[in-house]
Amino acid sequence: MPTELFQREKKTERALILSVTIRSPRYEPDQDEFIQLAESAGATIVCNLSASLSEPHSRTFVGKGKTAEVAELVKKHRVGIIFVDGTLSPGQEKNLESHLCARVVDRTRLILDIFATRAKTFEGRLQVELAQLNYIKTRLVRGWTHLERQKGGIGLRGPGESQLETDRRLISRRIDSLKIRLDKVKNSRFSGRKARRRNQIVTIAIVGYTNAGKSTLFNALTNENNIAEDQLFATLDPTIRKINLPGGIEAVLADTVGFIQALPHSLIDAFRATLEETINADLLIHVQDGSHPERRSQEASVLKVLQEIGASKIPQIVAVNKSDRILDTNIGNQNLTWVSAFYKTGLEQLKLKIVEGLDGASFERKVRLTPEQGSKRAFLYSTGSVIKEVVFEDGSILMTIFVSQSRWYEICKNCGFER
Ligand code: GTP
Repeated sequence: MPTELFQREKKTERALILSVTIRSPRYEPDQDEFIQLAESAGATIVCNLSASLSEPHSRTFVGKGKTAEVAELVKKHRVGIIFVDGTLSPGQEKNLESHLCARVVDRTRLILDIFATRAKTFEGRLQVELAQLNYIKTRLVRGWTHLERQKGGIGLRGPGESQLETDRRLISRRIDSLKIRLDKVKNSRFSGRKARRRNQIVTIAIVGYTNAGKSTLFNALTNENNIAEDQLFATLDPTIRKINLPGGIEAVLADTVGFIQALPHSLIDAFRATLEETINADLLIHVQDGSHPERRSQEASVLKVLQEIGASKIPQIVAVNKSDRILDTNIGNQNLTWVSAFYKTGLEQLKLKIVEGLDGASFERKVRLTPEQGSKRAFLYSTGSVIKEVVFEDGSILMTIFVSQSRWYEICKNCGFER
């Protein structure tokens, strides 16, 4: 696949933000979040405007009066691009563009654009290209010629810029071939996960609102340097690494994409890779930005997405991050663990919480017994948890057992093993 499709534009564009509250179908925009999204796509916001409608206007989405108001601001501030927090039909987009003489980018297109610049793995890139082509396909019926001169730029990066003239048939063909390739990649990822299951390796997924500090925590827990940028969606593809937990437990930790409010449904597939790791995890670490004034509403958005993707029943522990920015971390209940992923504080306590949270899950444990410890060997067999034993020349036996955390504690108590 041509990599240039996903290269990031360096130049910034003067942008106007239009937040639209709609009564039916109900949509309450979060202006701060949308501004952050536009900025992380590389735009410079020069003005913002809001509108409130009972329902979208069929021709221009926001109606004549608001369109005229926007047109004035576009002229006054030399705006080149307008971000509309809403979902525009191809017709509405075209009408707005010709009225405003500037490019119009809706929420879906903006998020797709951010995905395109952040996708890291092969699968992630294929998924983004597929989502972009599906989006573009619905817009191909209209003439693109009025925009052809403005190649690149936010909302036009990716396959759109080189294929404005391409007919639907070619795009459909490309979509089909992408789907086949994606299936292949998915199968190999699935085999990887199956192998982990077969080897009884526990998977823990880090989830949370975008910018909560997931990648930073992931690195801190796995002692590696990975990308952590103060930009939304620094993580698009799942990153998976081994984590060592207290008691000699080994598990796999998966970093996932940041959730946001009202993620367009058509885009869920574009990061399914990361969502699948979430759905199949044994435990979720829900990272929250403890210093954010909207922490509770961000928490609610994450819980809603988890429900939507069928991951709400997975045991969850909460790590409230950025404790370094908070004066009083005594607030909150016992189920919260305060950490500072950046300064690496609270991590040991978090690891203990992870082990507690994994209580339902079983792990492999190895115990070495001396030849005199026959009664302990018999006891281990009586628990039905022995999966392998190797006898050494000196008569000692290495027993591999597969038990849950609480069962392991019982065994330790009974046999006098160290936890
Ligand atoms: P997305 O991939 O966009 O969803 O973000 P993320 O949740 O993975 O966040 P990331 O780890 O990229 O961190 C976002 C920003 O918060 C970065 O600038 C981090 O340096 C900063 N950050 C992370 N942890 C802490 C912390 O404990 N304290 C402070 N003060 N900043 C932190």
